[in-house]
Amino acid sequence: MVKVLFVCLGNICRSPTAEGVFRTIVEDAGLSDVISVDSAGTSGWHIGDPPDSRGQQAAAGRGYDLSAQRARQVAANDFDTFDYIIGMDSRNLADLSSMAPPASRVKVSMFLQFAPETGQREVPDPYYGGDDGFDAVLDLVEAASRGLLEDIRTRHL
Ligand code: 4NP
Repeated sequence: MVKVLFVCLGNICRSPTAEGVFRTIVEDAGLSDVISVDSAGTSGWHIGDPPDSRGQQAAAGRGYDLSAQRARQVAANDFDTFDYIIGMDSRNLADLSSMAPPASRVKVSMFLQFAPETGQREVPDPYYGGDDGFDAVLDLVEAASRGLLEDIRTRHL
């Protein structure tokens, strides 16, 4: 099993979107039994909360159902469990580096590394902006999800 964990700050906007989109792409590729998908937040601010309703609505408009997801915080054992830990912005990466146990060897990646064609480095936080921020997140997440699946196919399958 190849295990993927998407991480953002709150686990209610960007990483649940990534989880929902990437899970759908994995299912459509017939790879659900070899790739598992999860998400978490570096903060504990929204533990137990469903994804932001604006994000759920934008995702539903493209056929992704995020409604069953609930926020959790990154845990120390995630660094042993997952093959890919993928942050959305440089703050997530810095926070993950400081949370990683010293012996941890999992590589932490920036999600948009898998979508160089977007010309962007970070998935911008849509929390304090308008609804169009969630559509911009979806565009970036869909592009990077396709790139991530190709990376997994190349390295692991
Ligand atoms: P996320 O967005 O990291 O994409 O889930 C945020 C959600 C909540 C907050 C910040 C960012 N907050 O400050 O509560």
